[in-house]
Amino acid sequence: MTQSATFQVDLEPGVAFYELKVAEVIEETADARSFVLEIPPDLSERFRYRAGQFLTFRIPWGDFRITRCYSLSSSPEADEPVKVTVKRVADGRMSNWFNDRLAAGSRIEVRPPAGQFVLGEGSAPLMFFGGGSGITPIVSLIKTALLTTQRRLKLLYANRDAESVIFRRELDALEARHPERLEVVHHLDDAAGFLTQARLHALIEGWDAAEFYVCGPTAYMDLVEEVLESRSVVFVERFISARDPDRREEPSDAPSPAGDLPQKYKVTIEDRTHEIPYLPGKTLLECAKQAGIDPPFSCEEGYCSCCMAMLRQGEVVMATNDALAEKDLAAGYVLTCQSRPTSPEIWVDYDG
Ligand SMILES: Cc1cc2nc3c(=O)[nH]c(=O)nc-3n(C[C@H](O)[C@H](O)[C@H](O)COP(=O)(O)OP(=O)(O)OC[C@H]3O[C@@H](n4cnc5c(N)ncnc54)[C@H](O)[C@@H]3O)c2cc1C
Ligand code: FES
Repeated sequence: MTQSATFQVDLEPGVAFYELKVAEVIEETADARSFVLEIPPDLSERFRYRAGQFLTFRIPWGDFRITRCYSLSSSPEADEPVKVTVKRVADGRMSNWFNDRLAAGSRIEVRPPAGQFVLGEGSAPLMFFGGGSGITPIVSLIKTALLTTQRRLKLLYANRDAESVIFRRELDALEARHPERLEVVHHLDDAAGFLTQARLHALIEGWDAAEFYVCGPTAYMDLVEEVLESRSVVFVERFISARDPDRREEPSDAPSPAGDLPQKYKVTIEDRTHEIPYLPGKTLLECAKQAGIDPPFSCEEGYCSCCMAMLRQGEVVMATNDALAEKDLAAGYVLTCQSRPTSPEIWVDYDG
């Protein structure tokens, strides 16, 4: 594979997108393709990733640029080239752009890996619930778990029909190679009807002590999460689009929390520390965006963890948190899209 020189897009401080070359495009199904990315040697550290993480892509769209996250379907431990898999969404902007326009040799702006949908430590069995394109981070987690642990694994993979199943051959091969450790159960709506709670309860029988990983369309995730309500270790990944500039509602200013608020605060991103104005009522993410330092984000609703950063100094209140676990909070991480300061000195570190 030929290596090309690294080109960091934009010269403003704090910008974290790199231009990478697409090495190969793989047709997975009629409406999903995988895109193998070439990582130049000088970026291999920046693009080191954990199974289950995602990359953020940015493309020009009319007068502005739009960003979306796509999970890595490759596994770092399997020594595979870095790969994401994108399924078309009806009338969706970036998913169709990827499938129609991105070819081997194309270049695209990418932000380094992020995300918390990664393997927990320990030896508990692992049960995965994937629906449609939600299989992408799950196949990565399965490959890594098979290679790096002795844990037992079970996957329920739900799709509309047999033609929609992504990674069919890869999953069959993994199951054949590890018959005593991996069980793959396919559910096809056209053959078996929509999934029911009763079917899910039957599938998790005997897996009480497992860690559960859920990723798929909203209705599917809601159903699975209801069934898993009483389980203690459940990881979820929600596939939500970032709000595009033309679709964004002006965020309403919340009342400023009580306390002596900062006029300015410190933000570290991509090895640079900036001092930026705090705009009363706004979140730390909104302030960072307004200051032009291009922080990472996606849902802006507290679900995806894209915007997480280490709070190195000061105190904040978060409006919502559906992404960070207790251990992340204890380590000092916050969701900057949900955080407003309650102390005069604030320092958030996106590299932390
Ligand atoms: C952490 C993470 C990982 C992800 N991983 C993957 C992955 O591995 N593979 C994958 O395929 N996807 C993944 N996604 C989802 C992906 O980021 C996109 O959300 C998805 O591809 C749809 O984006 P889009 O631009 O094609 O569609 P969008 O343009 O965002 O539109 C989506 C749908 O909403 C409608 N819509 C949205 N806003 C409006 C509006 N204001 N007015 C009218 N209609 C609207 C569109 O018509 C369309 O039907 C992931 C998401 C996250 C957050
Ligand atoms: S942007 Fe998704 S949690 Fe903040």
